[in-house]
Amino acid sequence: MVLGSGAREHAITKTLIRTGTPAADIVVAPGNAGIASDARTEASLNPNDPAAVTAFALAEGITLAVIGPEAPLVAGVSDALRAAGIAVFGPSKRAAELEGSKSFAKEVMAAAGVPTGMARECQTLGEVEAAMNDFGAPYVIKADGLAAGKGVIVTSDREAALAHAAKFIDMGILVEEFLDGQEVSLFFLSDGKTVLPLSPAQDFKRAYDNDEGPNTGGMGAYSPLPWLPAGFVEEVERTVAQPTVDELARLGAPFVGLLYCGLIVTDRGIRVIEFNARFGDPETQVVLRRLITPLASLLHRAATGRLDDGPSANFSTDVAITVVLASEGYPETPAPNRVITGLHEDEHVHICHAATALSPKDLSGEPELLATGGRVLSVVASAADFKTARELAYANIEKISLEGSHYRRDIAAKVAN
Ligand code: AMP
Ligand code: GLY
Repeated sequence: MVLGSGAREHAITKTLIRTGTPAADIVVAPGNAGIASDARTEASLNPNDPAAVTAFALAEGITLAVIGPEAPLVAGVSDALRAAGIAVFGPSKRAAELEGSKSFAKEVMAAAGVPTGMARECQTLGEVEAAMNDFGAPYVIKADGLAAGKGVIVTSDREAALAHAAKFIDMGILVEEFLDGQEVSLFFLSDGKTVLPLSPAQDFKRAYDNDEGPNTGGMGAYSPLPWLPAGFVEEVERTVAQPTVDELARLGAPFVGLLYCGLIVTDRGIRVIEFNARFGDPETQVVLRRLITPLASLLHRAATGRLDDGPSANFSTDVAITVVLASEGYPETPAPNRVITGLHEDEHVHICHAATALSPKDLSGEPELLATGGRVLSVVASAADFKTARELAYANIEKISLEGSHYRRDIAAKVAN
């Protein structure tokens, strides 16, 4: 069983099937129109309701629950499933605080000696201003709680920084030093003791080309990152992932699931800018596209404390890129329920749906596919090199027709020569 309804969950579903899980053995709740064409979906199940999810899982005889988004984690769905004896890939509510509370993440990093930016917790706007004066511009202001990807602002505009802090002051604010460098997303599977790295990816967080415009959930990604130094993954495992998982175990909150390390590679070394307690979206679409090892077995070993018993995660030397198609108005006010056409898949180009639904059938025939939200779908292309993968992805997305939609044209541009 996979919980969630985004392109990430569609990528997980496609990868399970591609690496050997029979489609008939998978159920995705609630899923979306695209996922429903690959596997069974349970559209009426609320993934954030621990009792309902557990009752469903028991009735269906589910042997592994994979939790996609953060909301069910925060709602305690993993805890309820585990209490019912079901193997769960997804951390407990307490361990998921690593994502939900930036101040908890900072405490864990401090105790574990994990390198991260200097930061100060502030409860009042006066404290925010004092911290801004101490750290200097550009200012990095973070809401200390889940804010659906909209809690962070990085700006040299003092007034904009203060206005952002004012908006989220009730959650508490973290003012952080600005870290300059390339961003890397590196995922680790964790069984609470042992970690296994996946392959690095880079996410494009801003809405428009050249990293302009507002922050979004992510507009595209590519994997691997050919410019990383040798030994990078091992260094992050040794200095970030393993000490963090060890510290959470010591606190009595073992982390079982996907530890997402959001990193900046600065002149002074690797720094953590955030942890997430789940697969990243859209990075998952490219990372899992390259996975060779059977995914179900990796996730099940993590869920049952057996990651040290079996192969590590192996990846194709092929590269992957994904470009996200967004509705008009995303990220501020996405236009809902417009008809989308022109979707094609083949061996090299896959489409992971995020916000799609079928319109109700009328008497005249087939239902139409509707784009129902901000990030509508991810076009994922794989090839031997980035130039070819980019050409495939962009040729495919250009054929999709959705009024007012937009996408970035510079995903992986700098690695495609
Ligand atoms: P977060 O939600 O913490 O990942 O922050 C969202 C985005 O803000 C990140 O992907 C970075 O692009 C940027 N960011 C966060 N923290 C910093 C920092 N300390 N220095 C520079 N940029 C940052
Ligand atoms: N792509 C960033 C995230 O999933 O949080």
